[in-house]
Amino acid sequence: MATRFLNMRNTIILGLILVFCVVGCLDEQIIDQTLIDDQLLETIDQASVTGSHSYFILPNDGEYNLIPNQDPANPISKIKIDLGKMMFFETGFALDPFDQSAKGTYSCASCHIPEAGFTPGRFQGIADGGIGFGFNGEMRRKSEAYDEYDIDAQGLRALSVLNVAFVTNTLWSGEFGGADLNIGTEEVWDKKPGSSLNTLGYKALETQNIRNFGLHRMIINKRVLDSLGYTEMFDQAFPEMDLNERYSELGGSFAISSYLRSLITSQAPFQKYLKGNKGAMSIQEKRGAKLFFGKANCASCHSGPALNENKFISVGVKDLYEIQSALATGESDVKNLGRYGFTNNDRDAFKFKVPQLYNLRDAHFYFHGSSKNTLKEVVEYFNEGIAENPNIPSNLLSPNFQPLNLAENEIDDLVSFLKNGLYDASFDRFVPDEVLSGNCFPNNDEVSRQDIGCN
Ligand code: HEC
Ligand code: HEC
Repeated sequence: MATRFLNMRNTIILGLILVFCVVGCLDEQIIDQTLIDDQLLETIDQASVTGSHSYFILPNDGEYNLIPNQDPANPISKIKIDLGKMMFFETGFALDPFDQSAKGTYSCASCHIPEAGFTPGRFQGIADGGIGFGFNGEMRRKSEAYDEYDIDAQGLRALSVLNVAFVTNTLWSGEFGGADLNIGTEEVWDKKPGSSLNTLGYKALETQNIRNFGLHRMIINKRVLDSLGYTEMFDQAFPEMDLNERYSELGGSFAISSYLRSLITSQAPFQKYLKGNKGAMSIQEKRGAKLFFGKANCASCHSGPALNENKFISVGVKDLYEIQSALATGESDVKNLGRYGFTNNDRDAFKFKVPQLYNLRDAHFYFHGSSKNTLKEVVEYFNEGIAENPNIPSNLLSPNFQPLNLAENEIDDLVSFLKNGLYDASFDRFVPDEVLSGNCFPNNDEVSRQDIGCN
């Protein structure tokens, strides 16, 4: 009897101790959390050009009036976005391939794959002349029917098109767009088929996308739109536009540009956090964010709302041709020269645009030359602060590219912020259920069809 009573008493005491400890520990955690939240928000405030962390809040879906860099000639509308959303994935426009066997097999999304953060999912995108898809683009390869220089592939990794609304001049070199950073570069425009379009006076996206169809061997005209079933949507989207322009690359560009501007990662945990949901990020992600905006100095370059910046900077990375199996590029590719390749201005040599940083955990290839395979390798590279490309004179490197002396656990915290804090998992909303041709997408060659499950 007595032992049983003692046991019961002990259990109660133990239980009470446990309860006190849990409450106590929780208490401590709550204090910890509040402290880190206060410190983090203050750090972000200081890193922001407006002095407030709200500067980094991206527009929510449908908040069209908050989307920056719109073209007055092409105001965003729901119908344009819906149309552009299908066009971006439509393999039916692939009507001008080098080899007729590749007709109808590729799309914009062959190189900008949603499941790969809208990058190619491999070190280099291949549209015309490529076969296969794998899981997110990693299995794409050159078709035997093509010689190396006959494929559609570029000498640098495709940029993500996420948050491209925050880009004033597109491409790694900023070639497109007649305004903003390209004011003063007018004398070189007519030297290139692409930048000559800058004289039309549209914004960068509209300008680049007029060119993109031809560059990527696609055809848009009334006959094609009729046959694929797009004419009615073009009429609804552009009722005011002259018919010759409506059913052309111009109408096509306007629709795709509207769609691209709507690709905003507003549902990432960091975005929810900025909007007041303190529980949206883990403690580790918060520590990483604090490093990003503070001690690790990432935000000195990645300073825009999408953690991009409309500036050209050298951080000394390798070029794509240095990857052995890279195709249709080489040591003399002008793309290796960055902004200089467009402006011919010595000051711009080896300088590349500062890219956005959302949804990169799915990309698996980083920097313009795909020289890194994990976000941890990227952070370690910035931590060491030593250029990996010996061709770049050290006086051209950014003064902000410096050794950081981060500890191993700090590197892990930063990676956790990049991987999880900056990951909008609902990117499915940017992908159409179908395209009007009924074709398989984003690729439609036999091997891809099997990989994607279209057969
Ligand atoms: C063969 C692969 C490939 C295909 C197909 C492709 N792209 Fe790209 N895209 C790239 C590459 C590579 C870059 C970067 C090129 C550069 O900087 O010189 C890029 C860059 C872009 C950019 C600039 C993003 C920025 O931040 O500056 C936009 C916008 C874009 N592509 C839209 C499209 C559209 C629209 C289509 C379809 C009409 C398309 N792309 C088809 C490979 C491709
Ligand atoms: C000196 C300016 C500068 C600083 C500081 C900087 N970055 Fe960057 N970052 C760039 C530029 C420029 C690129 C593109 C370089 C290239 O590919 O040529 C880039 C690329 C990246 C990429 C790859 C994006 C892609 O699409 O491939 C990631 C990830 C990244 N930075 C994260 C960080 C992090 C994390 C930090 C802080 C530890 C940081 N950056 C600090 C300028 C900077």
